[in-house]
Amino acid sequence: MKTTIRVLVLAVGALSAVPAFANLSVNVGAITVAPNDSSSTLNVVESVAGLPAGSTQVAVNNNTQLGLTIDYKFNNNWTAELIAATPFSHDVNVKGSAIDGLDVGSTKHLPPTLVAQYHFDIGNSNIDPFVGVGLNYTKFFDASASDTLKATLRSLNVTTANDDVDLELDDSVGLALQAGVNYKISDNWGAHFAVSKIDIDTEANVTVNGNSIQKVDVQIDPMVVMVGVRFSM
Ligand code: NI
Repeated sequence: MKTTIRVLVLAVGALSAVPAFANLSVNVGAITVAPNDSSSTLNVVESVAGLPAGSTQVAVNNNTQLGLTIDYKFNNNWTAELIAATPFSHDVNVKGSAIDGLDVGSTKHLPPTLVAQYHFDIGNSNIDPFVGVGLNYTKFFDASASDTLKATLRSLNVTTANDDVDLELDDSVGLALQAGVNYKISDNWGAHFAVSKIDIDTEANVTVNGNSIQKVDVQIDPMVVMVGVRFSM
């Protein structure tokens, strides 16, 4: 991590000497994905396990990673921002009914987002508030079904020890809305705060030997909060 940051600082320093990069700012800090999730019900699980119909959903927990956002300023009002981060990892659990909290599995994702920001002139050159609208692409990877889920499916005689149980999540493309503020401390340094509401919807499938046995539509729709240090070139 130390080496990464040193390389990053050197790279940013080198780039800032090039005039074409004068409109660039880089924000580095903590970025949190807090799902405001809801899902369709686990109808197959409910029927196999004898749970009330419509009682059982899935939930996705929060995760914080190292965020890197890059701003390109076109003029005093318009900036394009690319939001990137180290991969987020989330646990997926059952929500509701007698199996509330059951560990379904986990997944990682990368949510690159490109945002067009409108910056307001409030008459104070140190405080730069903005709103934005953009497009998100979320790529899920390394999804896996938990041992608890595998054991539960075996105990319900849905699977045997020889079956291969897995979890798969489809990629998502959706709208992002953003609001935030940049605070200027010196010519180069400042603080960056942004909150984005991102529409992330996926279809999750629990598969047995590659065949889906339970499909569930999950609305993750997170608030993505970034607090970082800002370096303007
Ligand atoms: Ni949604």
